[in-house]
Amino acid sequence: MKKLPDGFLWGGATADFQFEGGFNEGGRGLLSHDFETDGTIEQPRYHTMQMPNGSIIKPRSSFFYADPVPQDAKPVFLDDHYYPSHQAVDFYHRYKEDITLMAGMGFNIFRFSICWSRIYPTGLEDTPNEEGLKFYDAVIDELEKYHIQPLITICHDELPMELALKYNGWANRQVIDCYLKYCQTLFKRYGKRCKYWLTFNEINAVRGFGPCGIRESNGKMRYQGAHNMFVASAKAVKLGHEMMPGSMFGAMYAMSELYPATCKPEDMFHHLQQRRENWYFIDTMARGYYHPYAKEVWHHHGFDNLEISEDDKQILKEGQLDFVSFSYYRSNTTKAGDPWFNVGGSANPYLENTPWGWPIDPLGLRYCMNEIYDRIQKPIFIVENGIGAIDKADENGYVEDDYRIDYLQQHLSAMADAILIDGVDCLGYTMWGPIDLISLSTGEMKKRYGFIYVDMDDKGNGTLNRTKKKSYYWMKHIIETNGEALEEPLTNKK
Ligand code: BG6
Repeated sequence: MKKLPDGFLWGGATADFQFEGGFNEGGRGLLSHDFETDGTIEQPRYHTMQMPNGSIIKPRSSFFYADPVPQDAKPVFLDDHYYPSHQAVDFYHRYKEDITLMAGMGFNIFRFSICWSRIYPTGLEDTPNEEGLKFYDAVIDELEKYHIQPLITICHDELPMELALKYNGWANRQVIDCYLKYCQTLFKRYGKRCKYWLTFNEINAVRGFGPCGIRESNGKMRYQGAHNMFVASAKAVKLGHEMMPGSMFGAMYAMSELYPATCKPEDMFHHLQQRRENWYFIDTMARGYYHPYAKEVWHHHGFDNLEISEDDKQILKEGQLDFVSFSYYRSNTTKAGDPWFNVGGSANPYLENTPWGWPIDPLGLRYCMNEIYDRIQKPIFIVENGIGAIDKADENGYVEDDYRIDYLQQHLSAMADAILIDGVDCLGYTMWGPIDLISLSTGEMKKRYGFIYVDMDDKGNGTLNRTKKKSYYWMKHIIETNGEALEEPLTNKK
């Protein structure tokens, strides 16, 4: 039996700069992601920046330790470039229709991120932008109409551009205060209406300029930036608990499963070390202290210590997360000698890949859920999962996405086994991109995750009309039976 416990949370997840659009409306300021172009796997997306002498440079945007951005480079929009965050898929204007569609599937939770620069346009203002706050009031009003509770990501891989330029992003502790001012505003405004909060998205991906606003490709600076984010998160959790009794806080980690390529002891040990590149983030934030192996992690990134004060250690203890949330899309395989932190460096001959080369591994999800729960002993929450695929819509926009149904059927079954057989305490599941949205890694539209098709191409052309795919009806049935229908043969899925 796959029927999940009563109260299990079913829903979808989105991020503002991939979904909302309206980038210059309602008093919104500019975000680091607004300067990212579209791209492909072969041609990664980049930021457009201009040097004082007028020359254009194009630093890569979202890779681990992406290309450095020179101090005197300024972001610039180029006429012959397409910037996907500007329109995204226009949730900003279509939120009523979108929420009605999600309600139609029976969602009882919707994870979305608030756009920091919609609330504080540069991050530096003393008072928030009322128009921005009103937009999210309206979104929550709409959700409440359908008894869908919000799960709010406070910061999804983004920064108001001004904070990136003025402070070198999270490398500077001043950003902690800007973040807390923003959190306090959100807690005051939405605290009575939102129980579940995520302080940061994929905080373990200390990567390009976009997410953390740090210009240098420098291990120590980036890990100091991550430490500053740990402190910011812990302070937000403490403040949130004081302002909103009963609220629950998580942070989100990119937690693909990781396997050793063989049982050779060197491969096994390399795997242990690589896995700690992720545990480092979860352990510190969910247990409230740096584990001794942190020094070994730093060593691999070329430095031996960080600035961590006694006050920082105290706040990490006081602001521990209530639950651990994570994204799971794939597993990776690693062996001794692979370049450091080159996830997916070794192929797994037992798995098939998506068109974007991501290995499909449902059992890896069950493994991962157990691994986290065994280690941290706090509830977990799967806040992203799904398959990015190329959908072919018919003339009515309808997509027969059996491959998506297969992927979800297998992953949700593995999740149910982890909960019902292994005893993992899992709060819920929010599928990534329930309505097609912009890909984070490539900026493409054709990498689609949704149950709902959006008529738009990689350059933003199309009607943007929404159409339910075959998977929409299948997922609706899974949710209305609280997972029981996962055991029905797939031929009966509609
Ligand atoms: C997650 C991010 O890691 O992966 C999302 O939080 C992202 O923002 C998702 O969209 C899927 O990645 P991609 O590159 O396929 O969009």
